[in-house]
Amino acid sequence: MAAAAAELTPKTTLHSRFSYVSTRLACHRRVNLRPVPVSQNSRISCSVTSNEVQAPVALNIEDAKKKPECFGVFCLTYDLKAEEETKSWKKLINIAVSGAAGMISNHLLFKLASGSVFGPDQPIALKLLGSERSITALEGVAMELEDSLFPLLREVSIGIDPYDVFRDAEWALLIGAKPRGPGMERAALLDINGQIFADQGKALNAVASRNVKVIVVGNPCNTNALICLKNAPNIPAKNFHALTRLDENRAKCQLALKAGVFYDKVSNVTIWGNHSTTQVPDFLNAKIDGSPVKEVIKDTNWLEEEFTEKVQTRGGVLIKKWGRSSAASTAVSIVDAIRSLVTPTPDGDWFSTGVYTAGNPYGISDDIVFSMPCRSKGDGDYELVKDVVFDDYLWNRIKKTEAELLAEKKCVAHLTGEGIAVCDLPGDTMLPGEM
Ligand code: LMR
Repeated sequence: MAAAAAELTPKTTLHSRFSYVSTRLACHRRVNLRPVPVSQNSRISCSVTSNEVQAPVALNIEDAKKKPECFGVFCLTYDLKAEEETKSWKKLINIAVSGAAGMISNHLLFKLASGSVFGPDQPIALKLLGSERSITALEGVAMELEDSLFPLLREVSIGIDPYDVFRDAEWALLIGAKPRGPGMERAALLDINGQIFADQGKALNAVASRNVKVIVVGNPCNTNALICLKNAPNIPAKNFHALTRLDENRAKCQLALKAGVFYDKVSNVTIWGNHSTTQVPDFLNAKIDGSPVKEVIKDTNWLEEEFTEKVQTRGGVLIKKWGRSSAASTAVSIVDAIRSLVTPTPDGDWFSTGVYTAGNPYGISDDIVFSMPCRSKGDGDYELVKDVVFDDYLWNRIKKTEAELLAEKKCVAHLTGEGIAVCDLPGDTMLPGEM
């Protein structure tokens, strides 16, 4: 899902859509751009060719020895096995976080360090990725982590090179991305952020744990996750997720409000598709207090129109009120997404996450990252839920969000190793934060 960290604000003023895309692309890759008329209709079109296929990068030995810098008190050595209180703890796990100096991370890191995500006997190492611009701020974040005296937080290292920071990562929470600037077309956003996620995919492929679990948060998160996994061929595609948990949480809240129940009574909520305004919050399969939502909320018009749109655009309404993208609730939903993978899913329930479609029981196109209902045994893995039903309303909406993702995929073909990118996006396609 979700909110892009605002720590990488674009510095360029945009003169026109095309000049921006071409300037930026020219800086980074050899590409040919074929301009198209700005708009006969409301679609965005561009064509990008690239000779750059995202082959994994081989590291030289010196690079392989490099370590991100440990920070302050976290450079001390200790032996967990030597202490009575800590000797029964699990083996330390490495958690990499990108966009680590941003607002979402600022909420997330302290939850991770407190033990409330991975459990009270799970020591953790935080490997924080910033940028040249944010590295000083990142030191400030690390200082606050030091001062918090979290017993389970045993290592913190910070750096700006993903090949250093992602080394041996068992979890990679990829939050850092550029927000869509004023006047920036979605095609440009896909390209700019796609490049970041292509690079990070390569870095994960080269240095992360072979079973690293990756949660992509930076927008547009579904397609960023697709780019990332395509650039990490040695890591199972199944390990990559796009965060749609915030959308699920938002949907649960709205259903609870309408039904007049507390939100813990709402279950089986699926978000289908893209983390964008085409996402489909599924009220057909959802339940309130164990009963189908449609039996409890009889106002079909509200469900089909108001509820659906409320969830789709919640991020934008929040930005209007608060002046910035959701951060705390996004961090909470990242925690929820991790917990859903490391604890068994309650009987009969499921959770939503954007996953790679390589065969699915619903008939959704393969080779995209699509949010679907999943269950987990708590081992970090998941399986798709089979017993869901569709009606025409739900299926038509699913087809729309699927079409959007297929179009986004074509826009980033130059970043997934699939050759020539042709971008023809529906003009109204938006992130939840844009209205
Ligand atoms: C959200 O859902 O709150 C964000 O993804 C919004 C945005 O566009 O940053």
